[in-house]
Amino acid sequence: MEISTTSSSAPVSDERLAEILANPGFGQFFTDHMFTAEWTPDAGWHAARIEPYGPLALDPATAVLHYAQETFEGMKAYRHDDGSIWSFRPEENAARMVRSSHRLAFPELPVDDFVQAVDALVAADQRWVPDPAGEKSLYVRPFMIATEVFLGVRPSQHVTFMVIASPAGAYFKGGVKPVTLWLTEEYTRAGRGGMGAAKTGGNYASSLVAQQEATGHGCDQVVFLDAQHGRYVEELGGMNMYFVHDDGTIVTPETGTILEGITRSSIIELAGKLGHQVEERRFSIDEWREGVASGRITEIFACGTAAVVTPVGELKWDGGSAPAPASTDLTMRIRQALVDIQYGRAEDPFGWMHRIV
Ligand SMILES: Cc1ncc(COP(=O)(O)O)c(C=O)c1O
Repeated sequence: MEISTTSSSAPVSDERLAEILANPGFGQFFTDHMFTAEWTPDAGWHAARIEPYGPLALDPATAVLHYAQETFEGMKAYRHDDGSIWSFRPEENAARMVRSSHRLAFPELPVDDFVQAVDALVAADQRWVPDPAGEKSLYVRPFMIATEVFLGVRPSQHVTFMVIASPAGAYFKGGVKPVTLWLTEEYTRAGRGGMGAAKTGGNYASSLVAQQEATGHGCDQVVFLDAQHGRYVEELGGMNMYFVHDDGTIVTPETGTILEGITRSSIIELAGKLGHQVEERRFSIDEWREGVASGRITEIFACGTAAVVTPVGELKWDGGSAPAPASTDLTMRIRQALVDIQYGRAEDPFGWMHRIV
């Protein structure tokens, strides 16, 4: 892919950038540039460019604003102690965007083009990648939107792919702390044949009211059950789940209607290497409650790009609760192993890291 570059004439000053990177929070500040490419049926992908970050001018009839034909990704760039900059399994994000694109009736963006676009933006804005202390990183958000101007329910004939980036602070300020969960029995996230496995805005829009319910009950995050039986654990609003058993076995809900997390699949490999058997299968909410009560479940954790791995604490539902399991030992070991690979502090036996700068 040929990428043209127009550099920003007003990049953020070094002083302001230092202030931002000292306390970036999450998703609040954006780098000096953005990547854009367009697709039409005749020209295919074209007009790939890096240009100054700024607002988009969209006609009010732009399809994405009405029919939510869009898909996105979330990944991070990590600075290592020697100053080099790396991403974690970017081709997996690219492949997931291809799968999401099929579900959303979008054209396919080749994996190599996706990775090249992310690399080009991160390289252009490399001064925005924070130092690794305190698990800071540059969060990268590739996304694809329907930009044809029309009202009507059919696949857009003009598609725009963009990449933006935003420095991110540590997910946990002051140390890793278990997340408390609310079990929603009213709302579901995805049904058979639906969009659960696609990373698309509609899934997140539909999760908001359930997350509001969770917050209203004093919980950090919401747990969704399957839509058909209302019985099997799917995932959290933005993380996949793992259940560690007293015989060392680890269970994670099977794929199909959940988002296939890249952290999730990495943990399957990592835990296997640590000598644990990982089962991908249906896991019922009763198994959760009974397993915690009997001590058969010794740890529960959730995982995703943002938090990497977080222990799961108390689970609450309408009329009851289940306490946090006793231990977080394996959870923290897996977390450390992943973080060490991402920040280049440990060997990368899986070949997961991709050098950008
Ligand atoms: C619904 C949902 N599940 C799981 C995940 C974890 O995926 P990943 O590990 O690729 O970040 C995310 C995060 O993007 C998510 O939004």
